[in-house]
Amino acid sequence: MKSTPLWILGLYAFVSFIFFSHSVQVAADDDSNDSGAMSIDCGLTPESWDNNDFHYEADGSPFVESGKVYSVSSEHTLTSDEEQSWQQLNTLRSFPEGQRNCYTLAPKQGRGNKYLIRAFFKYGNYDKNNSIPTFDLHLGVNYWTTIYLSDSSDVVRSEVIHVAQSDHIDVCLINKGQGTPFISSLELWPLPIKLYQPTPNLLPLALTTRRNFGMTERFDFVRYPNDPYGRSWFQGDKDTKNSRPISTSIAIDDDSKEYKLPKEVLSTAITPLNSSFPLVVNVNASTNHEYYVYLHFFEFEKHSQNQQRSMDIAFTDSIRDNNVTLEYLQLQTIVHRIPRELSLTNISITSSPGSTLPPIVNDLEIYRVRHKQNSPTREGDGKFDAMRNIRHGYNIMRISWQGDPCMPEDYRWEGVTCNNYSGSIPRIISLNLSSSRLDGEIMGTIFSKLDMLESLDLSNNQLTGEIPESLAKVANLKVLNLTGNDLIGLVPESLEEKSGLTLSLDGNPGLCHTASSCKTKTLIGPLVASAIASAAVLLIAIFIPIMLCKRKRKPQNAMLPKKGGDFRSKCQAFSLEEVVSMTNNFESVIGEGGFGKVYLGKLQHGIQVAVKLLSKSSHQGFTEFESEAKLLSLVYHKNLVSLIGYCDDGDMKALIYEYMAKGNLLHLLTGKSPYVIKWKERLQIAFDAACGLNYLHNGCNPPIVHRDLKSSNILLSENMHAKIADFGLCKVFASDTDTHISTRPAGTFGYLDPEFHRCGNLHKNSDVYSFGIILLELMTGRPAIIKTSEGINHIVDWVTPKFKVGDMESIMDPKLEGKFNIASARKVIEIAMCCIETSAVKRPDINNVENDLKQCLALETNNESEESSSLFSSSTFDTSFYQCGSHSPPSVR
Ligand SMILES: *[C@@H]1O[C@H](CO)[C@@H](O)[C@H](O)[C@H]1NC(C)=O
Ligand SMILES: *[C@@H]1O[C@H](CO)[C@@H](O)[C@H](O)[C@H]1NC(C)=O
Ligand SMILES: *[C@@H]1O[C@H](CO)[C@@H](O)[C@H](O)[C@H]1NC(C)=O
Repeated sequence: MKSTPLWILGLYAFVSFIFFSHSVQVAADDDSNDSGAMSIDCGLTPESWDNNDFHYEADGSPFVESGKVYSVSSEHTLTSDEEQSWQQLNTLRSFPEGQRNCYTLAPKQGRGNKYLIRAFFKYGNYDKNNSIPTFDLHLGVNYWTTIYLSDSSDVVRSEVIHVAQSDHIDVCLINKGQGTPFISSLELWPLPIKLYQPTPNLLPLALTTRRNFGMTERFDFVRYPNDPYGRSWFQGDKDTKNSRPISTSIAIDDDSKEYKLPKEVLSTAITPLNSSFPLVVNVNASTNHEYYVYLHFFEFEKHSQNQQRSMDIAFTDSIRDNNVTLEYLQLQTIVHRIPRELSLTNISITSSPGSTLPPIVNDLEIYRVRHKQNSPTREGDGKFDAMRNIRHGYNIMRISWQGDPCMPEDYRWEGVTCNNYSGSIPRIISLNLSSSRLDGEIMGTIFSKLDMLESLDLSNNQLTGEIPESLAKVANLKVLNLTGNDLIGLVPESLEEKSGLTLSLDGNPGLCHTASSCKTKTLIGPLVASAIASAAVLLIAIFIPIMLCKRKRKPQNAMLPKKGGDFRSKCQAFSLEEVVSMTNNFESVIGEGGFGKVYLGKLQHGIQVAVKLLSKSSHQGFTEFESEAKLLSLVYHKNLVSLIGYCDDGDMKALIYEYMAKGNLLHLLTGKSPYVIKWKERLQIAFDAACGLNYLHNGCNPPIVHRDLKSSNILLSENMHAKIADFGLCKVFASDTDTHISTRPAGTFGYLDPEFHRCGNLHKNSDVYSFGIILLELMTGRPAIIKTSEGINHIVDWVTPKFKVGDMESIMDPKLEGKFNIASARKVIEIAMCCIETSAVKRPDINNVENDLKQCLALETNNESEESSSLFSSSTFDTSFYQCGSHSPPSVR
């Protein structure tokens, strides 16, 4: 690791352009809909879109990891305006591989809450085979329904109301050997827990029918936003004979009521053609299933005192309600459970004796109770805990590793064995990851969370490092096979002496069994053999991280508009007077940059902003000022600081940003701030910044190079989320391979790519270098450059010798007081060391860095939940679902 040449020091020493050091969060971090509802347009990538008040999320990660995306064939594509509300059915995701493929929804309300989940299916001959598949749908570990489609243009909708028992809901498609399963759209709507009570034993209720009677437009339907709970109400009149629609135009407001039925649904009803006949609603609820029927009545006709509407309602011979009397503008809902022995074929509503008015009915809902057969794997073992950590920690991609690890038995994860003596909660008792190309260290604490484990086979992988002692803590472990890895060091005594354990360690030349044999090995020292061995270890230490970092992945997105982009058209314009008043006549300076001061401001609603003023004297700053404004009006990402407005009023030029309450990272790490950033927070900051940079590099087309990344340009929000700031030196490159030849100094000493000094090129890899320096600062708590009596010391020169001997203790910030996870710290230092490779081509793409940091966060989360193994441990932040977030501005479309 060669360090920065010294000649450049005099030139730059400490000319750190701290353009501004503060700003405040304006919009909340996520701009998603507050209710927590989500709609996924399956097969649609990479961007989300809005259709008739629905915000459709793009398909793919984090919802689903397998499958292929398709569009329906052209003759089935919906294009006309009337069909607009169904356009999400034009694309789909199909699952040619594996027996079970799952979407995982993580609603923000989490477990213990009620959700309506709805899936749509339209085949549309997407595969040009004209062969319509039949497949099953599972909700978690239990059967939900079977999808039968009558023809290519048929649309099938399945809906279920479900109380989530965990924070994640799996919707799985099951291949039954009758064609490739697919899905067109998936929605989730949070419901109040009390709605559609009683939900017997929290069993899911699958929708059979939901009808709005009296709606005159046959193909019309009522749905969100008219229905706040996302229910869709279709015309029901074909289910009744000899009835006629009635309706009202009076204003109805049921908003405050339990069911929140839309007024469009309440204001229509049916009544018999001949009032001396009963109103008969045909339903076909077969026997052998338990149903819940909801009949909604809403009296919207005002009658005189001596008139009354009173009805006798018969569901079956034994289930009936007599003398149901309606009151003006009062919703009355009749709920009945129909047990499996009874069959419900129609509901007959007649006028009670003495009623002066004919019967009416407004709406009907019928739900079939879905009985459960299976329990999910115990939470600590299950998909979102130990197994998730193993899967993400080792990057295991197996098609069967979706949904629950143990259940249903037919779809159990490959290599996993469970004990589920029927009725009990399944536990993982054996895990076989033999020959699975695992590398890195054995994550002892993660494996030991599978505390019922009897057999662990990790043979024939490339596992390195020492055998963790924590494996000895797994009480029932009988077989531990570590044959054929690259493990080193002393085998823990506790493992060797564990009774009943068969330990297989062959094929690990670096392992030793007694302290003395380990010593003799290392003491041979000067011998050639040992030199070769240590060189090999060193090589592994250096190259493994590089290889890890260099895994190539597809770029995610291409969205940067080609047009030049005039920021004035996209941002709010402020007048001079407004800027004066928002900053209270430039009262409080929160930073100072190359082209002027930064002031704290307040918008009308009390929202704080940072106002960056271009001083009149600064001619050089104007180009940067303008290029920053242009760029920020083009890009939007939650990890990039955003531009709210500008002022261009004669001599006064100002940019107005979201304010970031916690200031910049450099200040927090090395300043006088009494707050010590925790290790996990540091990881989160690193990950956030990587997300932001990844977006600039790979989410934008053409890519954008920041060119001045440094810890003072990483700003932190109130809740310690990081955003990249200061785009004044950014360059938009025409292509991936294009580099920028600059004669003008760019960037900040200490963060500047050493290759820049040689050839004056700045490209994506230069940002990665700067990012590596920021990682080192986060770990060590030291600034990039330290001035000592001997001269100037660069952080790379300080860290490198310590890294070479693996001295993590002295690398890590003493302010952490040893409170960090050694595994994640090691991984971060490895990532940092590949980022700061002197040779730019050896540095990883930021996309890989982001992924690796995500794994570090996962390690950390696991570590934490272990310490506080409380009831709430599994509700801790789930990193596998932490994504870089919205890649498009909320205002688009
Ligand atoms: C209603 O039915 C009764 C009995 O069948 C019949 O007498 C009467 O004429 C019918 N009324 C109308 C308006 O059709
Ligand atoms: C693990 O699977 C491999 C084949 O993939 C097999 O040879 C081995 O015996 C299995 N180990 C155990 C403990 O079942
Ligand atoms: C351990 O794994 C190796 C290679 O997969 C196998 O040959 C050996 O029999 C295993 N040992 C035990 C005790 O299962």
